[in-house]
Amino acid sequence: MTMPTLRGAPRSMDRAWAALLCGWFAAAWLPSNARADAEAGKAKAQVCVACHGPMGNSTTPDYPILAGQTARYIYLQLRDFKEGRRNHPPMSPMVDNLSREDMQDLADYFAAQKLVPVTIKPDGARIEAGRKKSAEVLCTMCHLGGFSGQNEIPRVAGQLYPYIVKQLQDFRSHTRTNDAGNMASVTRNLTDDDIRNLAAYVNNLQ
Ligand code: HEC
Ligand code: HEC
Repeated sequence: MTMPTLRGAPRSMDRAWAALLCGWFAAAWLPSNARADAEAGKAKAQVCVACHGPMGNSTTPDYPILAGQTARYIYLQLRDFKEGRRNHPPMSPMVDNLSREDMQDLADYFAAQKLVPVTIKPDGARIEAGRKKSAEVLCTMCHLGGFSGQNEIPRVAGQLYPYIVKQLQDFRSHTRTNDAGNMASVTRNLTDDDIRNLAAYVNNLQ
């Protein structure tokens, strides 16, 4: 099989597979009652929607949209916040009192909501530059076509522009490190302009 050429590709590919395999093993270990109840999640989500918006449709720049995100990814992020692998002052304390079942219910609830996109004013040149960069860096090898995500790989399509910019910067500067190295290696060679272009492109995907 010929691999597309990409700087550092062999390492990042190994890591991608390692991350996927870890995800599969973790999924296999979930107990059989893991089919959490999205209805139960709805009541527990009251505290979350203050920041993440009604039904997880945030319109506040740094607060990510949770509606339509994959349940597995939401659950893993909550667990990472709880165990200190991901840190953010307003968000981290929110998980202190959540049990594993709470986190599964919340994940199922937000995953079942419909994402209402808040797109920035389309700038054709930026979006096109972002599309090109995404193809060059092979983002969709992991995030799937249209950045729709799968399991532990997040959906990014339609996510808020300022939040996408911030996460890409945080991965690049190693401020956010709970990605098993996947996003750190992807963002290493991105310029600030690349990041803005990519964010404009992905924000405008539905
Ligand atoms: C005080 C505001 C606030 C509240 C309340 C809050 N969050 Fe957050 N949440 C944030 C911020 C800000 C971030 C982004 C952190 C970052 O930039 O890394 C975040 C990130 C997240 C993420 C990661 C999303 C992603 O795309 O990676 C999840 C999942 C999440 N919150 C779930 C919840 C849940 C569930 C609740 C309720 C139990 C909750 N949040 C309550 C502010 C809040
Ligand atoms: C090797 C696989 C891989 C590639 C290639 C990849 N990503 Fe990711 N990405 C991930 C994983 C895994 C996560 C979740 C990390 C975690 O669990 O915290 C992620 C997270 C993200 C996030 C944070 C989402 C959120 O809700 O917080 C953004 C934004 C993102 N990726 C954008 C991109 C862009 C843009 C590209 C191409 C320039 C790209 N990714 C390429 C695997 C990849």
